[in-house]
Amino acid sequence: MIIQPASSLKGTLSIPGDKSISHRSIMFGSIAEGETRIYNFLMGDDCLSTIRCFRQLGIHIEMCPDSILVQGKGLHGLSKSDTILDCGNSGTTTRLISGILAGQSFTSTLTGDASIQKRPMNRIMVPLKAINAHIEGKDDSYCPLTITPSTLTGINYASPVASAQVKSCILLAGLYADSPVTVSEPSISRDHTERMLKAFGAKIETEGKCVTVHPNSHLTGREVIVPGDISSAAFFMVAGLIVPNSKLTLKNVGINPTRRGLLDALLEMGGRITCLNERELCGEPVCDMIVESSHLKGITISGDIIPTMIDEIPAFAVAALFAEGTTTVKDAKELRVKESNRIDTMTNELTKMGAHITPQEDGLIIEGGYPLQGAKLESYDDHRIAMSLAVASLMASSPSEIENSECVRISYPHFFEHLKEVSMYD
Ligand code: S3P
Repeated sequence: MIIQPASSLKGTLSIPGDKSISHRSIMFGSIAEGETRIYNFLMGDDCLSTIRCFRQLGIHIEMCPDSILVQGKGLHGLSKSDTILDCGNSGTTTRLISGILAGQSFTSTLTGDASIQKRPMNRIMVPLKAINAHIEGKDDSYCPLTITPSTLTGINYASPVASAQVKSCILLAGLYADSPVTVSEPSISRDHTERMLKAFGAKIETEGKCVTVHPNSHLTGREVIVPGDISSAAFFMVAGLIVPNSKLTLKNVGINPTRRGLLDALLEMGGRITCLNERELCGEPVCDMIVESSHLKGITISGDIIPTMIDEIPAFAVAALFAEGTTTVKDAKELRVKESNRIDTMTNELTKMGAHITPQEDGLIIEGGYPLQGAKLESYDDHRIAMSLAVASLMASSPSEIENSECVRISYPHFFEHLKEVSMYD
């Protein structure tokens, strides 16, 4: 994909459905009793991997013109897949489905693409084994994973990482345990599992950084309207701030407190972002955002805000390139185990464009104010790297070429069309 520098960005975009919430709607709909109808489902490759896996497990999932219909079969209604479950590029599919499969009376094997096979699964294997799940992986930590039937027991698990995938995996296994399962985490990660499981009828309680699920809840199918994904809006939030003379309206953006870290960080930098029409959609707060070009100042982000913007840090790094002074990202070591090692991949590619960016073990130091030039850039097959580089390219002095840019279909299939739609050139 060739990205031309833009002189301004103008227009209105409807942000596609939230990836995390779309995954969960299929999963919880499958293990609930009765029908679940999902509107604004994200038709990205990751969510399609979740649909494929649950179809393999015997669930009828119908693509209707305006929605997805899941014929749930209840907590014990899944059936053994004849073939290995393919989670594609999706960490959420792999880790959450493992929690569900741990409670089944049949054996399953799951794996994914080259990136998934390198991502750490010991973070779910350790707690799953602690509740007596039988799970084995390559070198005791990687896909393929094989999960065989066992009787799950309750636990109080203190997770060493703030990870919604780990938390959700254990909570889902907890639905099948013989007594309550409690998970605590060092900082609060996204809470879509808690919100949606509760809406489906599960007995689940949150107290600070601890969540407890009670077994044998009765889940009932329902309607889910998926809010727009702030992780996808992120690219246009940053682009609208850094490209001069810009004004973008982003419709229907989820601003759940456990996801809105990027919004808060950009506001602290002096970004002109206004949230209008704040409302609730299926238990999730959403708004429309107006984003206008702004003079940004460098800041430091660390600690509890990091999990609330972990997927947005590549886009945030691009904003920092256009801020006055230094921006520092700390406590974000998790970036190293995403679809690519995002500390290294962002450093490599932005450096090619002339950015002053220094990788740290747990983050980045970014000096703002250096001009960028166009370059031949690599996405590392990481959707969020491809889109962040496209945003940086809007502000370069010459066009850039992003290789393997088609990976955007993982989370935002129409990203380049949307970018073109709002880009103005002199
Ligand atoms: C997700 C949780 C996060 C995030 C991922 C989606 C989820 O991962 O990076 O894109 O839907 O639960 P971790 O749990 O590894 O932090």
